[in-house]
Amino acid sequence: MAKIAVIPGDGIGKEVVNEGVKVLEYLNSTYELGLSFKEFDLGAARYLKYGELVPDNVLNELETFDAIFLGAVGDPAVEPGILEKGILLKLRFYFDQYVNLRPVKLYNDRFSPLKGKGVDEINFTVVRENTEGLYAGIGGFLKKDTPDEIATQEMIASRKGVDRILKYAFEYARKTGGKLTVSDKSNVLTYAHNLWQRAFKAMAQEYSDVETNHYLIDAITMKMVRNPEIFDVIVTCNLFGDIITDLGAELQGGMGLAVSGNINPDTVSMFEPVHGSAPDIAGQNIANPLATILAAGMIVEYLGHEELSAMVDQAVQSSIDNNKVTPDMGGELSTSEVGNHLVKVLKELK
Ligand code: NAI
Ligand code: MG
Repeated sequence: MAKIAVIPGDGIGKEVVNEGVKVLEYLNSTYELGLSFKEFDLGAARYLKYGELVPDNVLNELETFDAIFLGAVGDPAVEPGILEKGILLKLRFYFDQYVNLRPVKLYNDRFSPLKGKGVDEINFTVVRENTEGLYAGIGGFLKKDTPDEIATQEMIASRKGVDRILKYAFEYARKTGGKLTVSDKSNVLTYAHNLWQRAFKAMAQEYSDVETNHYLIDAITMKMVRNPEIFDVIVTCNLFGDIITDLGAELQGGMGLAVSGNINPDTVSMFEPVHGSAPDIAGQNIANPLATILAAGMIVEYLGHEELSAMVDQAVQSSIDNNKVTPDMGGELSTSEVGNHLVKVLKELK
């Protein structure tokens, strides 16, 4: 039994989550997974009507769930940042989701932005630290709004925080049989990333079966473009992870396929497409649901059904190979038709 909280959110979030839930419901009934779903109406409508983002009683209730399935939040009628900070970041911090898991997988050579690099070369996963680093929110102003103003923003690396993300990455590399690359700026950030280096080397001793290597962050951006095939799993800090995962999204063919897991195995984890609520195309049934469907696949994997997650991946592969996709990927299907097609392929794969 597992309980899934569904937060469709705003704009196309609702449309794509609908298709993700379609896939989950099919898997649930066909393979008797014992999943239950409950929808939560967090987002712009609730905020505009009641001034509420995530009320405490909702937070308390969400604690009893196994996973959160999120569409996207953001609406032109609400000042930018309010919903994103008040809902997305709120949940990430409240549940201390310290792992941001971002697969970078190219499904078809026709979407590769790199000459001579295709599906065999572009296939790796980024494990981004999601709670500290330069994004911990520590800093301040001195003499604000004067010519002598000073602003500081501190980079936090706690040994516990670094150890837990490294452990997750080593375990992930071991499970998937891949090499683990750590990327930092230890030559310049001689305190925070020195800690990363020492923690990484110490943990590598415990995982002698996992092959490891190291690239400085500036060098890794060049390698990701020039030789993406050398990567299996990359672990890095919050700031650098933010940047290289967007680079990764482009390597795999754009936002339509980029998916994100915000994970803490001890609390509640949250799975979502990387894209936003796309108000420019909302309500037209043309949004690409594949990233959200891949997020559904991550949920079943997280819940221990790895073979079903692989099947979702195969179904996405098939729909892309057969051009059963939305207009943004060059196809002619609507959002709901892609979802229906996915379920049809899953039935054939049974
Ligand atoms: P966006 O990702 O919503 O859209 C950027 C462009 O990509 C738009 O032209 C959109 O039509 C297109 N696009 C995005 N997802 C698509 C899909 N599934 N299928 C086809 N086309 C797609 O980013 P934007 O426009 O900067 O932000 C819109 C709103 O979403 C803002 O309020 C922003 O704050 C919010 N946002 C929320 C996120 C989240 O909830 N995780 C992440 C990013 C933005
Ligand atoms: Mg980003």
